[in-house]
Amino acid sequence: MGLCYSVFTTIKLAFAAWFLVWLSRLIYSLIVYSFIWERASIPLETSPFIEDQRRVANFDFLDDSNLQNRLIARAIPNQRLVKVFGIENSFTTTNIKTHRRFYRNVGRALHGRRAENWPRFFTAASTALNLILAQFADARDSLPLAVLTRELVFLTTLYSFFEVNIENVSLHDARVATDAINDMWVHSKTIAQPDVLQERRRQLNAALLRMLPNEFPCSAATHPMNTILPAYETMWRIVLLTFISAGFRDVDQETADQFREVIQGVPECFADGNSDNVAAMAMNFSKEGLRLYPPTKRIYRAFLDESQVMADIQKCHRDPDIWPNPEQFRPSRFLPGEFTADMERAYLPFSIKPHKCPAADKFAPHAIIILVVVLAKSLGTLESGATVRFGNDTLDRDRSALLPSGRLDTEDWTLQMKDTSV
Ligand code: HEM
Repeated sequence: MGLCYSVFTTIKLAFAAWFLVWLSRLIYSLIVYSFIWERASIPLETSPFIEDQRRVANFDFLDDSNLQNRLIARAIPNQRLVKVFGIENSFTTTNIKTHRRFYRNVGRALHGRRAENWPRFFTAASTALNLILAQFADARDSLPLAVLTRELVFLTTLYSFFEVNIENVSLHDARVATDAINDMWVHSKTIAQPDVLQERRRQLNAALLRMLPNEFPCSAATHPMNTILPAYETMWRIVLLTFISAGFRDVDQETADQFREVIQGVPECFADGNSDNVAAMAMNFSKEGLRLYPPTKRIYRAFLDESQVMADIQKCHRDPDIWPNPEQFRPSRFLPGEFTADMERAYLPFSIKPHKCPAADKFAPHAIIILVVVLAKSLGTLESGATVRFGNDTLDRDRSALLPSGRLDTEDWTLQMKDTSV
């Protein structure tokens, strides 16, 4: 009887223990499940559209995104640059060594002493603009803005990346080179006219040989256009569009006040390493220009079968669900209190890792605003009495209209300086 009782009690206790374990597991599962369910029901903060564009930019769309596959996916859509300019750099090569060598060389130039000495860069750019303006002494009431900005950015590119003394460069050669590059770029996108392209390439190479004799003879991988193209081509349009947006279009009072401060404070505000408030404000002008008018509007990638995918950067930058009043030029949106996590994910002017532009953090934003300030100081702004004509009724009449930013859209823009007798 006693034995029976103790066996029965043991079974009862074992059952109770098993039941308790089962119950606690059930409760634990219910808690975990409800937590996951609750998290899943919170809407994702970033839009699926933005995430898709990021996956193209960072190559996550590839099944295997190792470096070799990434280079192939980028090089295929860029082959027209090889055909037209005869270059071989990170954008066009599928060779890992060539990519690494080019990237290293560019990095050295971007972070060298000369590139980061902003007051000297400012002086070089001012010298360049004075020389360029001397060519247009008789046209102060109708300065061709695109031509002038191209020459300015071209000369400062030679200064930054090839250590050229701007005063020794023939402006005629700079004009030939910038005109040729523009034409070749346009032709590279249309059905090529081989004889026109051939002649333009000959003119470009002859001008480059005179301006950069130490760079010749060269191979496709060492041609100076490998560096000039990514640096100058992206920069001249963004400098022009930011200058016009800040200086000649409708902006709110806060932006107008800030631009005045930036014109006064640059480049001195950069001298002691960006801790200055005006330096941060100046950077925001570059960032806002790059947001509204990204020089790389779309990033193309290809699969091995050559079918392509595309990241629409301009669309990310103008998405009204992310950016309040997206068509307005307002650098303050980059202030810490206003710049949201969504904006950060949608902001892709320099692409993202693993192939984010090496000029993104320092060189490009500093150089853009310095060149904009050099233009504003020499040519003036609407506020100081200068006028811009766009050769387009809508733009001339409505100062709040968005600027067109295609390669040929700026060709007719002219500026009248305040004092035409200078
Ligand atoms: C406003 C100016 C600039 C913009 C908007 C810009 C934009 C970009 C973008 C979107 C990419 C990614 C391309 C891709 O993955 O297909 C890139 C990469 C790159 N950029 Fe820039 N860029 C600028 C200035 C420069 C300058 C001044 C240089 C110096 C020569 C430069 C050198 C490079 C290089 C070497 C890469 C390749 C990086 C890699 O493969 O990891 N960029 N840039």
